[in-house]
Amino acid sequence: CLIFCSIMTSKEIRQKFLDFFASKGHTVVPSAPMVVKNDPTLMFTNAGMNQFKDIFLGNAKAPYPRATDSQKCLRVSGKHNDLEEVGHDTYHHTMFEMLGNWSFGDYFKKEAIDWAWELLTEVYKIDPKLLYATVFEGSEEDGTTMDMEARQAWLKHLPEDHILLGNKHDNFWEMGDTGPCGPCSEIHIDIRTPEEKAASGLSGRELVNKSDPHVIEIWNLVFMQYQRMADGHLESLPARNIDTGMGFERLCCVLQGKESNYDTDVFSGLISKIGEISGHRYGENAQADVAMRVIADHIRAISFSIADGQLPSNVKAGYVIRRILRRAVRYGYTFLGLNEPFMCRLVQQLVDDMGEAYPEIAKQQKFI
Ligand code: SER
Repeated sequence: CLIFCSIMTSKEIRQKFLDFFASKGHTVVPSAPMVVKNDPTLMFTNAGMNQFKDIFLGNAKAPYPRATDSQKCLRVSGKHNDLEEVGHDTYHHTMFEMLGNWSFGDYFKKEAIDWAWELLTEVYKIDPKLLYATVFEGSEEDGTTMDMEARQAWLKHLPEDHILLGNKHDNFWEMGDTGPCGPCSEIHIDIRTPEEKAASGLSGRELVNKSDPHVIEIWNLVFMQYQRMADGHLESLPARNIDTGMGFERLCCVLQGKESNYDTDVFSGLISKIGEISGHRYGENAQADVAMRVIADHIRAISFSIADGQLPSNVKAGYVIRRILRRAVRYGYTFLGLNEPFMCRLVQQLVDDMGEAYPEIAKQQKFI
């Protein structure tokens, strides 16, 4: 394959996702802004489904039965917060893109699972032997049972030993403390090298959800059928819906055959620019590498927040952005010797990399 196939660029990977779901009758919609102004339960978009919350709850009518998009998300506050991992590992981000497909009371588990499988193995041509799926085991506390329907649907594609049961923590997805939620089925991939496999002596199955950087979740299929109420109990939603989210940067890492999201073309331009500004070469010093990853990640979060209307400030959502900015500056100052303002010098690179998919960043470049 190294000789005959060309490696897909991140732009092609994003486009193939949207084209695939368009071919299955989904309307391609734009990403919602990353900054949320009309929902007191959220400061920032933390999942692709946020913009569809009212449709799931039955408060708004779906303008189309199926939708797909690539959504800018930020997980730095509230229920979904990855900030402290960012930079120290190679696969968590503050801002990331979530590729998603949705059914609003239309298709359900079987189609969602069949299409996920078709896209991963036939369009992206991922080796099926590398894939694992998790299924919800049920929860006595919530009065929910094991998801036999999802397990059955996976058995069509995967051998039994590649299907694992997961508890409420991993396999019941909730937007926040209240709101739409449901059992989910995650797809994990084992991208370890043969040497890593031999050294660990463990199968991929044994490493699912164990924080191994090379056995990672890439896609979460949520069967959105409940609403979590303020007193903690579950109510059924008016319809059974599908909400899926695939980590775009992780998918690029897998498809480009890299070991880290930061080695893909999503981040490589920013990493080299930071190298140029600081005089450090990525890969030479572990501490400097963490700092370079932190900065490459944070410039995206900060720039997109500003473009979407949230400036750094000393209160609420603005303070979250200020903290991200400070974290980037602190790592640059402490580990890369950057003692002059440098974040602004990365914006051009970001616009070159992402301005086509997200024109708002190009339009507001000067302001940012
Ligand atoms: N809402 C789910 C998630 O964020 C799937 O899109 O993981």
